[in-house]
Amino acid sequence: MSEKNTVLVTGASGTLGSAVVPQLEKQGYAVRPMTRSARSGWVTADLRTGEGLDEAVRGVDVIVHLASSPGRPRTTDVEGTRRLMAAAGKAGVGHVLYVSIVGIDRVSYPYYRAKLDTEQVVKGGGVPYTIVRATQFHQFAEMLLSALSKPGPVIIDPDWRVQPVAIEDLAEEIAGLVGRPATSATTEYGGPEVLTFDDLARSWLAARGRKRPIWRLGIPGKLSRAIRAGALTTAATPTGSRTWRDYLAAKY
Ligand SMILES: NC(=O)c1ccc[n+]([C@@H]2O[C@H](COP(=O)([O-])OP(=O)(O)OC[C@H]3O[C@@H](n4cnc5c(N)ncnc54)[C@H](OP(=O)(O)O)[C@@H]3O)[C@@H](O)[C@H]2O)c1
Repeated sequence: MSEKNTVLVTGASGTLGSAVVPQLEKQGYAVRPMTRSARSGWVTADLRTGEGLDEAVRGVDVIVHLASSPGRPRTTDVEGTRRLMAAAGKAGVGHVLYVSIVGIDRVSYPYYRAKLDTEQVVKGGGVPYTIVRATQFHQFAEMLLSALSKPGPVIIDPDWRVQPVAIEDLAEEIAGLVGRPATSATTEYGGPEVLTFDDLARSWLAARGRKRPIWRLGIPGKLSRAIRAGALTTAATPTGSRTWRDYLAAKY
């Protein structure tokens, strides 16, 4: 692929998008970031209504599809992706790269079920595709810890296992895939280490110099059991190289 290919990035304003856009620009791509708001130099489109999508995909070689709405995944992710694939097909886009989540087939949760259905939409969309399932981003792991510590103590299942990944590492992986032909395959990409929530919480509190108590509960239920068994982790290689502690050290 020539270095001047045009790449549409949906979800460009999001956590991962903020690392993917500069990475693609660094590699010489003509990047077209997409958002629902009016923003100078960006294209405006809405997956939920379809408004602006035809213009957004016009003249595009590759779409990196990151937009998602965990609160409204049926209309935005599943149906919105159907609209995006239809527009991409009409415009002759050569490759749609979709970012999904490791373990969505092992952990039963409405958002994950919608992601699985969205993968099917991508596969059946009639445009060459690549699907990358990623593990939780460092920022997401931290957001979860903040939410779990709202009552005061950090309330966790200490044995939940995750493999958080740096968005910069994932952005490099994605940029590499943009430069190669669509694979029609689903691959996985995770962080360099599997951590328990106990470790995650302790290192997070230590990095921020906080002395809050940690309440360790065995959270019941199928979802919790699956996460304890490592359903959100992957043995796939290569992995990212930046660790959770690197993320904390850079931030605090
Ligand atoms: N967070 C994680 O730990 C994690 C792990 C693995 C995989 N993933 C996947 O990676 C992708 C990116 O995640 P993220 O955490 O970076 O997302 P995010 O920060 O929540 O950003 C979501 C993005 O979706 C866009 N969006 C929402 N509704 C839209 C609509 N109706 N039309 C067009 N765009 C819309 C938003 O754009 P505007 O507000 O600018 O319109 C925003 O840029 C998602 O598919 C997610 O499932 C996430």
